[in-house]
Amino acid sequence: MRALALRSLWPTQIYKSKLVASVKRRTRPQASQNLIEELLRETLIIREIDEEGQAWSKDRYVNGFTSYASWDDLHVRFAAFEELEKALRPHVRKFARDLAWDLGTGHLEMSTCWVNVMPPDCTHSWHIHPQSVISGTVYISTPPGSSPIKFEDPRHDRMMNSPPRRQDAQLQLQPHIAIMPEAGEVILFESWLRHEVPISKARRDRISVSFNYSWRDA
Ligand SMILES: [Fe+2]
Repeated sequence: MRALALRSLWPTQIYKSKLVASVKRRTRPQASQNLIEELLRETLIIREIDEEGQAWSKDRYVNGFTSYASWDDLHVRFAAFEELEKALRPHVRKFARDLAWDLGTGHLEMSTCWVNVMPPDCTHSWHIHPQSVISGTVYISTPPGSSPIKFEDPRHDRMMNSPPRRQDAQLQLQPHIAIMPEAGEVILFESWLRHEVPISKARRDRISVSFNYSWRDA
């Protein structure tokens, strides 16, 4: 009877799936692998030629490279990223359904898309993605020792004098949750959810493509 008195409300949903899950049944699974390889190839080229991104990263993404503040429209610049945007559509639609969103006459649209290259000792501190509704990352390369993405309980700023939670608390009651992605996977979350990427201890680069979605009128 006591269990009936306790309800868990207002869940924070985080979506994780293989990108291949979005590929139509008639398409060869190899297509997804090819896309990841193509994204890797283009990411390394972007790192070489995006001088504005190189300058921005020098101070704000120490040791690494991100085109976040320079080329953040890769889904309209390069064919592989345009393909990625198409491959992500079913995932984003499903996540919006899981969130029970009523989009009315509007729709979700990728607004920005950029690459991240994290060599050893590179980190990305806690942040949110303002002016967006869904954010996420597709993982291109996650060598052994590379970092997870870590999420924080969004109610932290309201807890004031709350006692800490026990270390053996259930996963959904932990203050921070680390999710370890694999190459070829996509993670989606609501853009207000604070997250970080701790210091990467991999010997090789941890490489990913991140993106934001906006809720736009039809
Ligand atoms: Fe982020």
